[in-house]
Amino acid sequence: MQNYSHVVITGAAGFIGSHVIRLFVNKYPNTHFYNLDKLTYAGNLANLTDIENKSNYTFIKADITDAVQIEALFQQYQFDAVIHLAAESHVDRSITDPTAFVMTNVIGTVNLLNSAKALWKSDAHKNAPHRFYHVSTDEVYGTLGETGMFTETTSYDPHSPYSASKASSDHFVRAYHDTYQMDCVISNCSNNYGSFHFPEKLIPLSINNIKNNLPIPIYGKGENVRDWLWVEDHARAIDVIFNGAKPGATYNIGGHNEWTNIDLIHLLCKIMDEKLGREAGSSAKLITYVTDRAGHDLRYAIDSSKLQNELGWKPSLQFEEGLAKTVDWYLQNEDWLNNVTSGNYQNYYAKQYDHR
Ligand code: NAD
Ligand code: TYD
Repeated sequence: MQNYSHVVITGAAGFIGSHVIRLFVNKYPNTHFYNLDKLTYAGNLANLTDIENKSNYTFIKADITDAVQIEALFQQYQFDAVIHLAAESHVDRSITDPTAFVMTNVIGTVNLLNSAKALWKSDAHKNAPHRFYHVSTDEVYGTLGETGMFTETTSYDPHSPYSASKASSDHFVRAYHDTYQMDCVISNCSNNYGSFHFPEKLIPLSINNIKNNLPIPIYGKGENVRDWLWVEDHARAIDVIFNGAKPGATYNIGGHNEWTNIDLIHLLCKIMDEKLGREAGSSAKLITYVTDRAGHDLRYAIDSSKLQNELGWKPSLQFEEGLAKTVDWYLQNEDWLNNVTSGNYQNYYAKQYDHR
């Protein structure tokens, strides 16, 4: 990290980004970190109250689809590294409105690449170290059958508008590395869970619904398999890769932790019955099978042995422990959850920074 002074982390008001910037701001006090975020429905500065007053942290409200604004910010702040997480991230929303995903995930990424290229190729910067780290998903690889795992050489085969937009952005990042000799790195991670997760995704949505005795919607038969990783282990992996990867490298990140959705929800119901003092089996009665998601990928599973062998990272938490910790966090942070589900968080925090 000693190589970089001004690191911009995009999307750091979101779920994973907030964990990444918290880790970096606390771990690297001599580097300044800029949280560049548009504060869409998924961005919430209440995720960052513990670091908002740190001297090496600055929030910048900006939209990566606005090329002029992004270019001006690179010139103003002289960013020497980018960790890019800003994205539209929910598959169901991508089915309803694919264009928003093309704009942010594809055009937004290209805007960042162009601004980084212009600054880093300038006379003042051309001999200094720079890095563009693009955070991507295992969903670019498509779907697996009953066996096998995604490796870094698995062919891209995206099926949802979300995964197609992420795949496209990965291709652009690689193209800028190959064509313009930019120092670019990509990681593709499996499904994350943990604190500050927006309650439209399976785990936080189900926690919220169980708490409020609402139906838990299970798409199709609940047989789809996801490979779950604790978000703080993902943040640690991003740290290790950002600081240790060779230019042009790609790493898969995952927890070797596959669950069918229905088994996961039964485990969650059991944990929540215990924590809420409910009779065993009562939360599971909320399980409601609903129409399947269009184009629903059957199974994701990540082989992260390259990352484990080359950079020494490994997941720290067993899933049962991580899920119990996550439930505790949601039950202890009712205000956060209520502000998000009511929409209040957008009024207060977003307006404070609305300078434009
Ligand atoms: P999120 O939806 O919680 O947060 C996204 C953040 O990006 C929000 O703060 C939002 O305000 C910001 N943003 C959106 N559009 C923007 C724009 N046009 N300009 C500036 N900021 C904008 O997402 P997440 O789950 O934290 O995912 C972060 C990244 O990690 C994404 O790139 C996603 O593809 C990737 N990823 C997520 C998972 C997962 O399980 N959630 C797994 C692997 C990879
Ligand atoms: P999600 O959390 O949306 O993540 P992703 O689609 O990126 O994997 O969904 C995880 C799995 O849970 C996926 O197979 C879809 C399923 N799912 C449900 O069954 N019900 C729900 O209400 C949601 C949001 C997801």
